[in-house]
Formats: sequence, structure tokens, C-alpha cells
Amino acid sequence: MRGYSDHNCRGSGWRPLLLGCLAWAALDAGAAHAQNTPGLFSEAQAMRGEAVYQQHCSTCHGLRLEGNPAAPLTGAAFRSRWEDGQHTLDDLFYIVRSLMPNNAPGSLAKAQYAEVVAYILKVNGYPAGESELVPAASVMKAVTLQPH
Ligand code: HEC
Repeated sequence: MRGYSDHNCRGSGWRPLLLGCLAWAALDAGAAHAQNTPGLFSEAQAMRGEAVYQQHCSTCHGLRLEGNPAAPLTGAAFRSRWEDGQHTLDDLFYIVRSLMPNNAPGSLAKAQYAEVVAYILKVNGYPAGESELVPAASVMKAVTLQPH
């Protein structure tokens, strides 16, 4: 699949074009598994994020992000907390990079934070794309999390 950047889904035209992009993505993914969110991260990045997650997050958020003892990072809890159309990806990233791991905030490299957020997105059903998620507020603020 070609990168979404080829279809003007990123950059200045992001918001007005989003619906068009969603329609395109649904067509491209085929009827069997329509996906309506552009690929925000790469598969390889999410896989690195899984390793980061297991080492630095799973003791509090569960091996499968199910939460225990800390908040779940997937399922209904994730949807109602983050995918309410009021939160951007930057809101999520900000909490992770400035407050997590809760017992050692800010202790990971910026790239590792991007990896672990990519992994969280993947577990929550977001499709991988060709480009990596760049840990830059300007990029993440442009992405509003919503039901998909
Ligand atoms: C020592 C335990 C601990 C570790 C390790 C930890 N967290 Fe947390 N995390 C918490 C607590 C406590 C909260 C506050 C909410 C709660 O009480 O569940 C929280 C909240 C969060 C939230 C916000 C959840 C929400 O619904 O508001 C996210 C996202 C998150 N953590 C991600 C991570 C990631 C990613 C890592 C690994 C880099 C990580 N956490 C590591 C304990 C931890």
C-alpha cells in the first residue's frame, strides 16, 4: 500500500481532506476489513514499542494493556478516555512522555516514547503505514483520536 502522504492526508490540508482520505482508505482496505484511519506509525516501530512496553509499562498496565493495577490502555476504557473526538494524539503522547513510567517519569528516550505510543495505537486497532510516528507535537496535534 502506498503511503498516505501520497494522498495529501498530511500537511496543511489535513482537516478538510480527512473525510476524503477516510473514504479512500476504506476503499483501499477493501470491504473485508475497512479501516478509516491513516497509518500513523510503521509496523517495525510498533514492534520495537512492544518491547519497550513489556519492559517499562506492563508491570502497571498489564501484559496486554488490560490494566492492573493502573488504567487499561485498550478496550472500552481507551475508547471512552481517548477516542472521544476531544483528544489529540499529542494529549496521549504528552502524558506518556512526561509522566510515564509512573515510577521513573521521562526516563526513556524520545524515540522509545514514540515507539510505545505506536504500539498502543496498534493494539487499539490502528493500521500501520509506511512512515514512522515522529515524536513532534506539531505532527501529533494534527491527529484527533476518534472511534475508528
Ligand atoms: C509504576 C507503575 C506505572 C508504570 C511502570 C507505568 N505507568 Fe502509566 N500510569 C500509572 C498510573 C498510576 C497512572 C494514572 C492513572 C491510574 O491510576 O491508572 C498511569 C496513567 C497512564 C496513562 C493515562 C491513562 C488514562 O486513562 O488516563 C497512560 C497513557 C500511561 N499511563 C501509559 C504508560 C506507558 C506507555 C508506560 C510505559 C512507558 C507506563 N504508563 C508505565 C502507572 C504506571
